[in-house]
Amino acid sequence: MSACCEPQGYEKVFDDREARRAAARYARSGLTTLPRRTLELYRDGVIGGSTLLEVGGGIGDFSAEMLGAGVDRAVCVDMSTGYDAVAARLLADAGLTGRAGRRTGDLVTHPDLAGPADVVALHSVVCCYPDARALVTAAADRTRRYLVLAFPRDTWWMRAAGGVLNVYPRLRGSDWRFRVHRPDDVARAATDAGLRLVREERFAFDHHLVFAR
Ligand SMILES: C[S@@+](CC[C@H](N)C(=O)[O-])C[C@H]1O[C@@H](n2cnc3c(N)ncnc32)[C@H](O)[C@@H]1O
Repeated sequence: MSACCEPQGYEKVFDDREARRAAARYARSGLTTLPRRTLELYRDGVIGGSTLLEVGGGIGDFSAEMLGAGVDRAVCVDMSTGYDAVAARLLADAGLTGRAGRRTGDLVTHPDLAGPADVVALHSVVCCYPDARALVTAAADRTRRYLVLAFPRDTWWMRAAGGVLNVYPRLRGSDWRFRVHRPDDVARAATDAGLRLVREERFAFDHHLVFAR
């Protein structure tokens, strides 16, 4: 996908209001299920490394927790600037500002936004991008060791929920759509990029896959 046709208007959906909502939820109950699972796998030594690239990291709560768990440096790339202020405050409050970087843009059309990292993680991001293969390929190219892909299950009720959810971006004039991609296609993009699937878990709503180089 060329830069001229990259999706637009993500800021209209992933805005400062959404960021404040995510921060309040994090303050109340910590990480959500998928990033929490990745953090557990890192703490258990299933995933290892000292650098993290989080694609579509939102408020950066997962990156902050990974820095607390042993990662030396984390970079977050997100297409929306709507989270920036909340993310900066979260890092500052945790005393982690100097160990974290943040870049704005689409990793697919601007792969140079981030250098390689030991762990590359995408939680609920594949469902936010039209070309899953291009996104997974770009993310896989960035990992030295592990790639984590957590994304919604392909079920009729997930697709139905997506149809309802997508009324909102249409009303706001954003290209963003919630998309359910076929899990086999997502996994094949990672293996075609030279990674192997080392762990596969299924949650009520999502797949959580770990690939290794
Ligand atoms: C639903 S949010 C998920 C935020 C966070 N990972 C979480 O689990 O709460 C998806 C985020 O992915 C970002 N995103 C989607 N495609 C992207 C891409 N190609 N490059 C960078 N960010 C992307 C969006 O801007 C959005 O902030």
